Amino acid sequence: MSVAKKDYKRITVKTLVDMKANGEKISMLTAYDYTMAKIVDGAGVDVILVGDSASNVMAGHETTLPITLDQMIYHAAGVVRAIERSLVVVDLPFGSYQSDPKEALRSAIRIMKESGGHAVKLEGGKEVKESIKRILNAGIPVMGHLGLTPQSIYKFGTYTVRAKEEEEADKLKEDALMLERIGCFAIVLEKIPAKLAKEVAESISIPVIGIGAGNGVDGQVLVLHDMLGMTHEFHPRFLRRYMNLYEDMTSSISQYVKDVKSVDFPNDDEQY
Ligand code: KIV
Repeated sequence: MSVAKKDYKRITVKTLVDMKANGEKISMLTAYDYTMAKIVDGAGVDVILVGDSASNVMAGHETTLPITLDQMIYHAAGVVRAIERSLVVVDLPFGSYQSDPKEALRSAIRIMKESGGHAVKLEGGKEVKESIKRILNAGIPVMGHLGLTPQSIYKFGTYTVRAKEEEEADKLKEDALMLERIGCFAIVLEKIPAKLAKEVAESISIPVIGIGAGNGVDGQVLVLHDMLGMTHEFHPRFLRRYMNLYEDMTSSISQYVKDVKSVDFPNDDEQY
């Protein structure tokens, strides 16, 4: 059991802000279904992100763009049914908040009502400021997401490190300050230089959770299937694999196939 698990019975958005103030790092992982979420929650992860990376990981799409609001709600509802302690943050998918603030609010309300999630996350800075304000005004906590924003992949054309140049770094810093000022409870910074991420984390009082953003931030997030080594073809520099489940699962499943073919399974003890 982790120290944090003893300290905080149930994680809320306020807990995360307190954790930052107390210098306690925040752990966040994705989950998209009941069974995985139960393990992640039970292991003491502070925040479960029902990420739109479900589009890649669960549905096999090349980008995060195709996943729909209905599909995100389906994934999030399963996660929420599993958790006892973690805060559940649900991504607003591409197309559900960019067109106008009213639509953004409608989408966020659907997530909160239909999945039972505790907060939403959306990508972007000043371009989506009015949408974020509208959602916050309805009492829905919002997590921002800056740096590499995969929903804009066709604008940038690549998943390489963002904000290496001064102009983009300055915009990112301004956006982070703005997100804090309007009331976001946390920000994800994806794939930016560690020095810049540290500077941002030190300039605001809300938690900054990094992925590929170094260790000067207030917490870390990884995609669960990546850190468990299930997605063996994906190996960015920032990823630490804690298991090699792709190989372990492949050999277990191959063994099952052999056992079925050889009638080793089921044996006498495994039947009625
Ligand atoms: O969708 C997702 O998994 C994310 C994380 C990479 C932060 O947004």
